[in-house]
Order: sequence, then structure tokens, then C-alpha cells
Amino acid sequence: MHTTVKKIEDMRDKSAKIIAGGGEKRMQRQHDAGKLTARERIEMLLDPGSFVELDRFVTHRCTNFGMGEKEIPGEGVVTGYGTVEERLVYVFAQDFTVMGGSLGEMHAAKICKVLDMAMKMGSPVIGINDSGGARIQEAVDALSGYGKIFYRNTLASGVIPQISAIMGPCAGGAVYSPALTDFVYMIENTSQMFITGPQVIKAVTGEEVTAEELGGAMTHNTISGVAHFVAQDDEDCLKQIRRLLSFLPSNNLESPPVVDTGDDPLRTDEELNTIVPDNSNQAYDMKELLGRIVDNGDFYEVQPYYAANIIIGFARLDGQTIGIIANQPKVMAGSLDMNASDKAARFIRFCDAFHISICNFVDVPGFLPGTTQEFGGIIRHGAKLLYAYSEAAVPKVTVVVRKAYGGSYLAMCSRDLGADQVIAWPTAEIAVMGPAGAANIIFKKDPDIKTKTEEYVRNFATPYQAAKRGFVDRIIEPKDTRPALINAFNMLVMKREGRPPKRHGNMPV
Ligand code: HXC
Repeated sequence: MHTTVKKIEDMRDKSAKIIAGGGEKRMQRQHDAGKLTARERIEMLLDPGSFVELDRFVTHRCTNFGMGEKEIPGEGVVTGYGTVEERLVYVFAQDFTVMGGSLGEMHAAKICKVLDMAMKMGSPVIGINDSGGARIQEAVDALSGYGKIFYRNTLASGVIPQISAIMGPCAGGAVYSPALTDFVYMIENTSQMFITGPQVIKAVTGEEVTAEELGGAMTHNTISGVAHFVAQDDEDCLKQIRRLLSFLPSNNLESPPVVDTGDDPLRTDEELNTIVPDNSNQAYDMKELLGRIVDNGDFYEVQPYYAANIIIGFARLDGQTIGIIANQPKVMAGSLDMNASDKAARFIRFCDAFHISICNFVDVPGFLPGTTQEFGGIIRHGAKLLYAYSEAAVPKVTVVVRKAYGGSYLAMCSRDLGADQVIAWPTAEIAVMGPAGAANIIFKKDPDIKTKTEEYVRNFATPYQAAKRGFVDRIIEPKDTRPALINAFNMLVMKREGRPPKRHGNMPV
């Protein structure tokens, strides 16, 4: 046989062994658990045939606990690049069939290479996590591997979008890499994230909790706010990631892709004229309102289950990506609390980092009162919202739909926090505080407090006081909101707004 042919065969054998991962039995176990394998996941995420694998032949150099003899195919992680909708992305997928996807020195080195390349090329990174954590045999080398990843996640933050899919266990300090990235996906019933697992918790605190209760998809999507999206299964998750990427630029120097959505930019909607109930205290669904305004009603909500009193997510207006922040009158009357402030502030900062224009829909009665909020630091949390809006230099347009009272009026991107255009509906109520509270203070001793309150409502719970001072630029018919917003964002397309030079600010955290 020709030597080259022999060498090629040898290379094929070596490759095949690595591609087989932990072997058929473990692959089957992965499938039986309702999970795809690392390679199947990458294939499903990327455009067909676009994946180019890197570092297939990387091996560990650990000799502890008999590891010198142990082969670990691909080091338990598949890494490389490919395309999503023909745009370059980098990807790594931990292979649970190989030593439980545990992370050692060289496993980490493969991930770091992908992160370094993605930053150089200005392309998003998608990390698929399915791992038992630090490879125990590798001791401090494994810890160092995590440290190197955290460092790169931080350097890449605001440079390229970083997306984490948790598709199995993700425990211990390992959780901090996903937490440093921009968006975290979790899968119902097959993924868990926790710093210390159920056994350690039982030993230390005596609490009994299942892994799913402690760190499952719904725990992190509803209670902790660690995750941003929940998926039914692997396939759903990977499809959702492709959808998310369609809204995003590849890096901080690019603009988001413009899509021909086919929706008429001049489309008006009569239903909007009656969507706000007559009774100012009655709720309505802000999501219905948003759906009537954005292109084809297509709104990709971020963190739909967490702090549902505020809505955040991506949509398009005349094909341009916008980030939406909107109060939800259906939940806690749309008031702002600690979690809503955190949720919106982080989203605003993401949009600002990646040239995504911000559109705010305001119907907010105030910050949520109570000792829980005050003791929990609503001052500190609410300040994040003020900070994020003030810091954001992307085009910012605010639509005051109904209530905008006091500090929460300011916090929802008022003119003074740098809104480039403030549009009000005739139903807007922009005032220093709600009519009942205001009347109770200034007309406390007046025998005719009822009439005085009505007078306050008539004169102050309107958009006109704010419009008189120029805090509101336009009062429009609700039905015209879509064309008005498209016009505003087109007008703002060349916006240039500087910020004083500094190393970085010190956002309240
Ligand atoms: C080495 C590991 C491993 C690990 C799993 N394996 N975790 N090997 N280091 N951390 C191996 C197992 O020995 C097994 O090998 C294979 O992976 C599959 O694991 P199983 O236990 O059989 O799978 P399963 O029953 O599905 O349980 C999965 C699991 C469990 C819940 C993740 O493996 C587990 O609890 N692992 C340890 C998790 C943990 O405590 N990690 C923390 C490490 S410290 P074989 O050969 O039998 O297939 C840490 C700190 C990081 O992460 C700090 C960073 C800053």
C-alpha cells in the first residue's frame, strides 16, 4: 500500500475513534435521557455542512490517578466554527459521553481558542454546556481552565454576542461562564445549574431539594432570573438560538441585520385607539399592544417568566431590530421592583453595546412600595435602570401609553434620561404622583377634596403639562404609533452622541 494512503487510513481511524466519543452505550444513554449528542447539537445549530471542527486531536496531559493511560476522545468537548444564516459563528459543545463532559486543562484550552478566535473575527459564540464540572483528577489545572474561560467571557462581553445553552448538568463554579454571557437557555427537565448540588445542601443546611427544583429550567427562568429562555427540548433550543441570532449584529462594530419583513411601514391600527381601558386602574395586556405595532407581530420575548411586570425583547420595525422595554399593567399594575429593574437594565446595556435602538412603552404607576423592596435595596436596583438608560447612546424613543408617575416616569427613559423622542398618547398621565396621593397631600385640609382631586386628574393626569415644557415631543393618535415610531427611528439612524472618556463607569450592582 502507498505510504500516503496508509497515513490517510491511519488518520481516518484516529478521527473515527474520537468522533465515537464515549462509545455507543453512552451515546444511547444520552439519547435515552432525551438529549442529543454534542455533534448532533452542533449539526442542528449550524447551517447544514458548514461546521469545521478544530482541535479534534487535542489530548490531556494529566497523569494523576492513572490518567496517563486514559484516552479522552476530543477532550470531552467539540469545538469549531460554522455559519448561521450564512453568518460566521463559533461554537463549543461539551460531550457528556466523554468523562461526563468534565473540564480539564486541555478541554478548557479548546474553549479558550474558540473564544479568542471569535473575538478576533467579531463573531458570536454559542457555548453548549453539558458537564459534570471540573475534572476532579486534574485538580487545580481544571480550576485554572475555568478561570481562563471566565476571563475571556469578560473580555468578550460587549464585543461579540455570547450565548449559552445549558443542555445537561452545569454545576459548581462552572455556572459562572454562562452567567457571564449575554443569554442563557435552559431545557425543561434535562438541564440544571447550581453552585452546590442537593447532596451538599443537605449536608450543610439540612434542606432537602431535588436537582430540578434547585436549579432546573423553570427555577432559573422564574425565580432566580439566571436564565433568559426555556426550551422544550434540544431541537427547540437550537432553533430558538438561530432566531435570537437573526436579530443581532455579529459584533459591536456592526449594525444588526436588516430584514425584509414585508410589513407595511405606514400600517395603522384602529384597535389601538381603544386598547387602553376607560378606567385608569383597569389592566390590559401590553403584549397585545406591542404585537399590533411591530413587524408582523413578531416579538421574541426575553425572560418572559421572570419579573413579568416588565417586558423586554426583540422585534423589528420596518425590518430594523429594536429592543423593547415595556411595563406590563397586567402584572403588579406594571410597577417597578428590584427584579424588573435588574432585568431591564441588563437588557438595555446589551442593546446599547450592540447598536440596537431602544423603544420604551410606558404605563407605570411607580416603584413598588414596601419593606421587602426597601430592605432588598430597591434604591440600588432602581438606580441600575436610571444608569443603563442614561448611559445608552443608541437611539431611544419613548411612548407614554398611560401612567408615568414620579421616579418611575423618569426611570422609564424620560426626556431627561436622554430619550431622543418622547411620544405620548392622549391617554398619557404624566405627573409627579398619582392623583389620589397628590390630592391627599396638597388638598388635605380642603373640605372639597373630591372636586379638587377631579380637577387634578383633569389638569395634571394628562400629557399636556409635560408637552407644555417640551418633555413630550408629540401627542399622537394611538392608531398611528407604528408609522410614528418607524419615522422616529429613521430620523435617528445617524444619531451620534458622545460620552465623556473614562475607563468605565461604576454602575450600582
Ligand atoms: C471527572 C466525572 C466528573 C467530574 C462526571 N464524571 N463528573 N469525571 N470529573 N467532575 C464522569 C463519571 O465518573 C462517569 O464516568 C461519567 O462522567 C458520567 O457520570 P455519571 O455520574 O455516571 O453520570 P450521571 O449519573 O448522569 O450523573 C451526572 C452528574 C454526576 C450528576 C453530573 O456525574 C456528578 O455529580 N458529577 C460530579 C459533579 C460535581 O460535583 N462537580 C463539581 C466538581 S468541582 P464513567 O467512566 O463511569 O462513564 C467544580 C468546581 C469548579 O466543578 C469551579 C470552577 C471555578
